[in-house]
Amino acid sequence: MTLRFLTSGESHGPALTVIVEGLPCGVPVDRAVIDGDLRRRQGGYGRGGRMKIETDTVEITAGVRHGVTLGSPVTLVIRNRDHANWEDVMSPDPQPPEAQERRALRFPRPGHADLAGALKYQTSDLRNVLERASARETTARVAAGGLARALLDAVGIAIRSHVLRIGRIGLDGDEVSWDGLGQVEESPVRCADQALSTAMTEEIDRAKKAGDSLGGSFEVVARGVPPGLGSFSQWDRRLDGRLAQALMSIHAVKAVAIGAGFAAGRLSGSAFHDEIVFDPARGVHRPTNRAGGLEGGVTNGEELRVQAVVKPIPTLMTPLRSVDLQTKEPAPASYERSDVCVVPAAGVVGEAMTALVLGDALLEKLGGDSLTELLGHLKQSRSAWHQILGTPRMGS
Ligand SMILES: Cc1cc2nc3c(=O)[nH]c(=O)nc-3n(C[C@H](O)[C@H](O)[C@H](O)COP(=O)(O)O)c2cc1C
Repeated sequence: MTLRFLTSGESHGPALTVIVEGLPCGVPVDRAVIDGDLRRRQGGYGRGGRMKIETDTVEITAGVRHGVTLGSPVTLVIRNRDHANWEDVMSPDPQPPEAQERRALRFPRPGHADLAGALKYQTSDLRNVLERASARETTARVAAGGLARALLDAVGIAIRSHVLRIGRIGLDGDEVSWDGLGQVEESPVRCADQALSTAMTEEIDRAKKAGDSLGGSFEVVARGVPPGLGSFSQWDRRLDGRLAQALMSIHAVKAVAIGAGFAAGRLSGSAFHDEIVFDPARGVHRPTNRAGGLEGGVTNGEELRVQAVVKPIPTLMTPLRSVDLQTKEPAPASYERSDVCVVPAAGVVGEAMTALVLGDALLEKLGGDSLTELLGHLKQSRSAWHQILGTPRMGS
């Protein structure tokens, strides 16, 4: 892996930290842009109380000087402002038993990591499990993704996402164009269709009133992706597989499709595959993009499109049945301040994970210790692609 990152931090600990390694030197980094992504992750209709307590901002403690990367590992820190209310509960130092008891969660929530984590670590203290299992961790991913996006931006790759479905309300039919995604942030649910946005917020209101939660799906679109990223030469080098893993690793994501992948099993070959045509103005190109920009695990120069399905979040105000792990008596599952629907936020995390995978694949293909070197390699490759496709311009 050329571009890699590791996150650490508990949900109510002092901070989340992420180290991103492998970025070339000379990449412009703007903290305000990363903060903007962090804000988008915190937003979306259906988020809970915590989002109002915290406004995430990133600190850069290594690897960037005077607004550009140095080529050394970049360290990002995002403080948990809520930690002030949890200092003894989350203290790294030994504490009196009340500190452990005060925020104890005893009744595992179906769908969360509580029971699986209790079995894994052989503990009945669910706090130790959920603090790291919590999707608060995705904050660190969005920050890391901000660095990958800065790299992609420098080579002309841009990424957007949008919500396709929340509960029963879904955007079916034709794909939403890149330009159609330009206004998505104005929708409270990050949906490109205004009428559906309203229907989605009403669906969330209904779920909230019933003490329930909702899932849905989102799509990530990347534009300007050069062809030839990823490889079919080995299973773990395929970019479709790498993207699927990255998106599936997002909390609550249960299915991932490349392009029109969810419909692929229902269509015949002639209805599914994207024909290859030529005209002198555009060169060799594809009138459709059901493949989502990937064939054989390799980018083909079209827009990259990936969809993900998000399950309804597990913490329910009207709890499901559970069991007290100590007494084995039936008990309603624990409730802790929670969101109702996180699909709009999950899309923002999806953008970050896509950026990190694309950044890695880009550096693997074109390499370079500096951005200048990388851009030189890209220019060389472009002239070869133009020849093959018979067009003066492509890939951006
Ligand atoms: C941005 C985001 C926010 C989330 N917030 C919550 C939440 O407030 N409450 C909750 O129960 N689950 C929430 N989840 C989902 C859980 O973190 C997730 O279901 C849990 O970690 C178990 O993992 P799994 O669903 O992938 O199996 C959130 C997920 C995402 C992507």
